[in-house]
Formats: sequence, structure tokens, C-alpha cells
Amino acid sequence: MATTNKTFTMIKPDAVGNGHTGAILNDIIAGGFKIVAMKYIHLSKETAGAFYAVHKERPFYGELVGFMTSGPIVAAILEKNNAVEDFRKLIGATDPAKAEAGTIRNKYAKSIEANAIHGSDSDENAEIEGNFFFSQFERF
Ligand code: PPS
Repeated sequence: MATTNKTFTMIKPDAVGNGHTGAILNDIIAGGFKIVAMKYIHLSKETAGAFYAVHKERPFYGELVGFMTSGPIVAAILEKNNAVEDFRKLIGATDPAKAEAGTIRNKYAKSIEANAIHGSDSDENAEIEGNFFFSQFERF
């Protein structure tokens, strides 16, 4: 399957609330990613529930939606060769206790729930998630 050059990210409420937005954006840019769209928003339960609908049957769905609506987030579309895979490497494992030293979750995340940042897990989902948040007029 062809690899696209875009991924989608959200800096989560824990990291925004703890003042890590600037440091995380620096890490993203230093990692070679170009920001092609970005917004600062507080998700409603409806919007977060729809975004995470794919996880509806998982036991933590309610907590995940509650957490993602607990404060503002920063959503962005990022561009780089091999974006999805390289970004997952930059952010580290979902569980920060397992995230490699130097990764964003290793540096800024506290728990598997409050894990600082989201990164799309496939090219297909990167496209879907970017389109969920941004219109054609909001990306460059
Ligand atoms: S991943 O990154 O999609 O492969 O990880 P996955 O384990 O499938 O988790 C999907 C998202 O659910 C969040 N998550 C949790 N939230 C609350 N409580 C628990 N126990 C929990 N486990 C996983 C995880 O942070 C993923 O969020 P996103 O925004 O997709 O990174």
C-alpha cells in the first residue's frame, strides 16, 4: 500500500494543562514534521465520542471520552515522509511506562490515559482523522 506523507495528532488535555504545548510542538518540528493545519479547541462529549467511536466497545471508552473533554486540546495535521510510522516513533508507546527514553510520552505523559499525545495508527486513519477536524480551507 502506498504511504502518504501526512499524519494527525492531538496534544491531549493533560499535556496542554501542564504547560507542555510549546515543548511538544518544538519536539515535533525538531523531528522533521511540518505543521500543515492546527487548532486549539475544547471538545464536547459528542465530538470526542464520535472521534473515538472505533473504541466504543472497549472498557475504557467512557474514561477516554471524559478525559479528552476535561480541558482544551491542540489538534494538527503534520507532513513528513513516512509520517505515520515516524510520528509513532517520536511519541513512543501508548503506555508511557513502556515509552522509550526521549520520546514525547516518556517525557510528558503520566499514565496510559493521560498519555500527552495522540498519533494516527495508519495512513487511512490519518486521512479520516484529519478530515474529521479540518476543512479544505484550514490546511496549507
Ligand atoms: S493505539 O495507540 O491506538 O494503538 O492504542 P490503544 O491501546 O488501541 O488505545 C486507543 C486509545 O485509547 C487510549 N487508552 C486508554 N484510555 C483510558 N484508559 C485506558 N486504560 C486506556 N488504554 C488505552 C489510548 O491512549 C489511545 O488513545 P489515542 O488518542 O488513540 O492515542
